[in-house]
Amino acid sequence: MPPAAVLERPIERHASRSKSAPSALSVLDSELHELISTGGPLPADYASLNQKLRAVGDAVRASLLSKPEVLAYARDLTARHFTGTLQAQALERKYGYSGDFEIIDAIYRQTLHRDPALRRWDLFFHAQAAPVAVRNRKAWFHRLLDDHLATKEGKPLRVLDVASGPARDVREWMLDHPGEEVFFDCIDADIHAIDHARKLCAPFIDRVEFHHRNAMRFLPAKGYDLVWSAGLFDYLMDRSFVFLLKSLLAVTRIGGEVVIGNFSPFNPSRDYMELLGDWVLYHRTERQLIELAREAGAPADAIQVEWEPEGVNYFLHVRR
Ligand SMILES: C[S@@+](CC[C@H](N)C(=O)[O-])C[C@H]1O[C@@H](n2cnc3c(N)ncnc32)[C@H](O)[C@@H]1O
Repeated sequence: MPPAAVLERPIERHASRSKSAPSALSVLDSELHELISTGGPLPADYASLNQKLRAVGDAVRASLLSKPEVLAYARDLTARHFTGTLQAQALERKYGYSGDFEIIDAIYRQTLHRDPALRRWDLFFHAQAAPVAVRNRKAWFHRLLDDHLATKEGKPLRVLDVASGPARDVREWMLDHPGEEVFFDCIDADIHAIDHARKLCAPFIDRVEFHHRNAMRFLPAKGYDLVWSAGLFDYLMDRSFVFLLKSLLAVTRIGGEVVIGNFSPFNPSRDYMELLGDWVLYHRTERQLIELAREAGAPADAIQVEWEPEGVNYFLHVRR
């Protein structure tokens, strides 16, 4: 382990600016080093560690500490101690953006580092509310598919999955529903995601088609019963949100629905994501989601907002 003085350099740089900000980061830093020396956090340590992270977040919100400085600290610490962990993977942005198919798939599969000395950090990552909510949204999609399947009345079910990423959700549902007349069109802008998803869904090639396209510019226009998009709209500014939702409604058949996942402001992992992982999303309230759906032309009685058990992921349902 490098000497504490080296690790604390980013903290010392702030000492002249404020008294409270450096102390929030120092307290977090001490706790992290204590945990590093004992082999990583156990579940009994999570509350205290989350509390220290929140205190750093509060210092940033109070402008006592700047976000780039905290991120510089996180990068330094991660490079020294957390190579190959999910924390490192989030910061690395291997494909140029946060939330790529690899990290999302790792969240679904709850992968752990091979090195026992680092495994507990991955367990801490997976236990955060945001990854739990990501796993819950897969279950949400599955439940939606079940509901649509139950009401399709002998007709084939057509589903559009926008920003499909690893398509682990599609694969698992298809495995549980062999022989059903359900046809998926999956769109993703990242060819690496498409390649990975095609492999995962290879057994269902006759019913799952992949399109390597930017959803803002292209959508297959088949008249879908269900249009699903999770993990995309919370990266979009309001204008793009409305534009894309309008386009999705245009390819939904009358009687079908569009369902969009978006992180809510009740995200206890937000500081962890933003300050240690540089993973920034547009968190939206129920009211904001409803207003955006109204802007996209949906009548008030066609809109509903629901959420998964953590309350971290909202789902905007818009009926056509
Ligand atoms: C966070 S992942 C979500 C994956 C999947 N929906 C899930 O929940 O498991 C986001 C995905 O959105 C894709 N993406 C981002 N912008 C896109 C766009 N404009 N059109 C299509 N895909 C896009 C990325 O390539 C990435 O695979």
